[in-house]
Amino acid sequence: MPKLGEVNFVRAIGAAGARHALDKPFSDPKCGLYLGDLGVVLGLLPPPPARVLDLGTGPGWTTVFLARRGYDIVGQDICGDMIELAEQNRDRYGAWSASFVVQDYEGMPYRDEFDAALFYDALHHAEDERQALAAVYAALKPGGVCITIEPGEGHAAASGEAVAAFGVTEKDMPPHHVIAAGRAVGFRSFRVYPRAAEPRLVHGVGADGPTFPAKPGRWRAAAGFARKTLRALLKGTRDADHTFLFGLPPDAVLRDGNVVWMEK
Ligand SMILES: C[S@@+](CC[C@H](N)C(=O)[O-])C[C@H]1O[C@@H](n2cnc3c(N)ncnc32)[C@H](O)[C@@H]1O
Repeated sequence: MPKLGEVNFVRAIGAAGARHALDKPFSDPKCGLYLGDLGVVLGLLPPPPARVLDLGTGPGWTTVFLARRGYDIVGQDICGDMIELAEQNRDRYGAWSASFVVQDYEGMPYRDEFDAALFYDALHHAEDERQALAAVYAALKPGGVCITIEPGEGHAAASGEAVAAFGVTEKDMPPHHVIAAGRAVGFRSFRVYPRAAEPRLVHGVGADGPTFPAKPGRWRAAAGFARKTLRALLKGTRDADHTFLFGLPPDAVLRDGNVVWMEK
């Protein structure tokens, strides 16, 4: 049977793995990043009580959070044991507007009934991501949006152990690839946003001294600007110059794991 690795995943990870999955995101050191991602999702979804389809929901934590926010939401997953965990989470957190279904996202029966769909760390397990996005396109109402939050280039190469141990599919799923697949199945407009990141220091004060980072004086700032401009003129631009000079992200971010928003 195809996708057996995904179907049997919870049994393969044992009791401790299942407990970790059940308690996600709180059980994971990346809890802050997960919650940051969810903050981005909340900023991009239409307001509640929109009807949302959460694809590859796993233990259901995203579905449960969004239900508690007021969404009418269906969480689906190919793994029946994951859906059992998700149902436990629905009961634990009183997320009564969430329902769950065992289903392959590459072949769903929905037509024009959801306002939004979410793939959270799930599309990169697809055998055929274009087919999965086509099924989501059919499930969305006109004007509905699909949001994907996926790992970028290098993920497949870094996942060799998981593939060998569990027989799951692991792929790179950078934004340019998601957009190409989305465009091929009919989505018409696209936006890319950064995923949640570790906190970035913008200001610090030491015990006995000046603030950090110090604000450069006007001559120093002007000299830095002139140096970068001259270098760009003589040697061409680098990614960092592009951001510095024009405030635009370099193309490289389209190879990273990011958030893609696409509209039907
Ligand atoms: C990395 S887990 C992420 C789960 C969840 N979104 C989370 O953040 O905890 C990927 C999930 O996608 C599910 N999945 C993989 N292929 C699928 C398919 N074809 N249809 C539905 N779900 C699938 C897996 O069973 C798994 O639960």
